[in-house]
Amino acid sequence: MMSNIIKKYFEESKYFSMKLEKYFHVYELILSKYKLRKDLTVVEIGVKDGGSLFIWQKLFPHAKIIGIDLNIECKKFEKDGFIIEIGDQSSREFWKDFFYKHQNVDIVIDDGGHTNTQQINTAISCIPFIKDGGILVTEDVMCSYFFNFGNPSKYSFINFCKKTIDDINFKFPGIGKFKFSLNNYVHSIEFFESIVVFKVDRKQCAFNKIITNNKKKNNHEDLRYGYKKKMLKNPKIEIIKNFLKKFQILNKINHFFYITKIRRFNIVNSSKMKKYFK
Ligand SMILES: C[S@@+](CC[C@H](N)C(=O)[O-])C[C@H]1O[C@@H](n2cnc3c(N)ncnc32)[C@H](O)[C@@H]1O
Repeated sequence: MMSNIIKKYFEESKYFSMKLEKYFHVYELILSKYKLRKDLTVVEIGVKDGGSLFIWQKLFPHAKIIGIDLNIECKKFEKDGFIIEIGDQSSREFWKDFFYKHQNVDIVIDDGGHTNTQQINTAISCIPFIKDGGILVTEDVMCSYFFNFGNPSKYSFINFCKKTIDDINFKFPGIGKFKFSLNNYVHSIEFFESIVVFKVDRKQCAFNKIITNNKKKNNHEDLRYGYKKKMLKNPKIEIIKNFLKKFQILNKINHFFYITKIRRFNIVNSSKMKKYFK
């Protein structure tokens, strides 16, 4: 099991590191497919004592591994084969310079300061520079619920993730648009306890602009608003209905009753769902 390997690498690491025990299994799920990749660039924000850099070095033996920290002392890990950049993850300028220098990367692991501003600025700065098939892993997102991290807040990192779910769904034509959007990059988001994973895939994001069908004719009416509706239509009533359709005013009245019926249906059903949102 790879989770044991990551745990083993964690325990064997030359220097101190501290992780939630359940992260090892999550890492197994999300990182295993990159293990033997040769052209891999892995970035970790938050070097501290260097412990986790050595986990990634063992897990990705062929990768270029870049550590980022505010603390200049972290530069000492360059002698161990890492690239260390000193800077502030909440600075857009820092990230601009970073990607100018290092170009696109495959995996970004955010284990930095964990504030809303730091996590959000890291996400919005890094995602456009993650290669297709790559990921941003944001650790310790439980900080979005901590008072001393300025939360609960409308602008917490976890609320940013929830907004990104809407953003992904807004790819469907005509349902919505955000002024700030990542939906040309983020194809999916995976939520674990305390970890969020953004999966980048520009090609898949572009895909659903096209609506297709399999050319087989669909004769079935959608009965979502009328489960009591008769499946078979009465031909006499259909003739009368078609005749009445010629009168615009009757069409408008019919449409009004149809919309009212749908609204009533949705209000009644939403109130039944309310208990699942408590
Ligand atoms: C939780 S520790 C990292 C631990 C390390 N990843 C490990 O598992 O061994 C957080 C690190 O993030 C750094 N940090 C805090 N705020 C930062 C910021 N705004 N930009 C870059 N690094 C930051 C701190 O200096 C600290 O070394």
